Amino acid sequence: MKVLSGIQPTGRFHWGNYFGAIRQYISLQDNEQAFYFIADLHALTTVRDANVLQQNITDAAIDLLALGLKPEQATLFRQSDVPEVSELTWLLMTLTQMHLLEKCHAYKDKKDKGISADAGLFTYPVLMAADILIYDSDVVPVGQDQVQHIEVTRDIAQRFNSTYGGEFLVLPDKHVLDHSAKVPGLDGQKMSKSYNNTIPLFDTPKKLKKLINKIKTDSTPLEDPKNPDTCPVFDLYKLFATPEQQVDLAGKYRAGGMGYGEAKSTLHDAAMEYFGSAFERRAELESRPDDVEDILAAGAAKARAKAQEVVERCRTACGLRGKPASL
Ligand code: ADP
Ligand code: TRP
Repeated sequence: MKVLSGIQPTGRFHWGNYFGAIRQYISLQDNEQAFYFIADLHALTTVRDANVLQQNITDAAIDLLALGLKPEQATLFRQSDVPEVSELTWLLMTLTQMHLLEKCHAYKDKKDKGISADAGLFTYPVLMAADILIYDSDVVPVGQDQVQHIEVTRDIAQRFNSTYGGEFLVLPDKHVLDHSAKVPGLDGQKMSKSYNNTIPLFDTPKKLKKLINKIKTDSTPLEDPKNPDTCPVFDLYKLFATPEQQVDLAGKYRAGGMGYGEAKSTLHDAAMEYFGSAFERRAELESRPDDVEDILAAGAAKARAKAQEVVERCRTACGLRGKPASL
């Protein structure tokens, strides 16, 4: 089974990204052949500052490694280091129906809001299809928001195969849905960069404390009982705590006499402990940027070898090269 996923370097990773995606990628690396990439070409549809993008890419690589992605087990690379993906995007684009892309949410949301969209955003799902198909991937772990794009990928691959009469592209027929609960942000709604309510994974303990103190709570007086089930502080605490620790804190909520300040402090300590070793690994990786570059280069070489094989197969399939060769 070949697992593949990508994550966009559009800003610093936050708790939602970790519990909703990154943690799951990392756990898959133990048993499967895994390819993970930093989707820098996709990020170009939103990040328009070259220095910011550069920094985001470096941070994304260091964060993933610090969080436990092991380059000897999983192949980690930058999307743009595999230029064949852009060529495959074009081959696929010539077969992609406009109506398929018109209903894709990133483009549709903008259009519905009257915001003008560019061709990059419109064709974004085709680049994503190329990302997946170019490595003969069969499992693509993604969040709910990306499921539509996997369906588009299958559609395009099917069309390519039927147009050129062979099994040239592997249909990713399974995807691991991210069923984990949505991680709430500072305001209680889904944590997301777009809502400006995130808690970044790696910030100074002082800044993290400050942010955690900003999590929205109600105005129940300190001495009164409180409901843990409707409190985002408790929801976040559950991500880090053992079942016993959760029962313990829930008891304190219900008993009264504990203020939200204490709950927030408990959450802060639990998060610091949970990510403690990742903080240390991150600092260490940051001090040797050349090694991080070497890891990305080695990952790209491995990914590229596979991509070249698949693109060559597609070139022959559609007649850019000699005799078609199906799988
Ligand atoms: P953002 O919404 O901050 O821009 P992305 O869309 O880049 O985050 O998300 C990258 C990955 O992290 C996706 O797989 C997404 O499903 C997951 N993710 C993001 N926010 C959350 C959240 N609050 N809860 C669970 N998963 C999340
Ligand atoms: N579009 C995905 C996101 O925003 C990132 C991505 C790009 C991706 N290419 C991919 C994910 C291929 C899985 C497979 O989260």
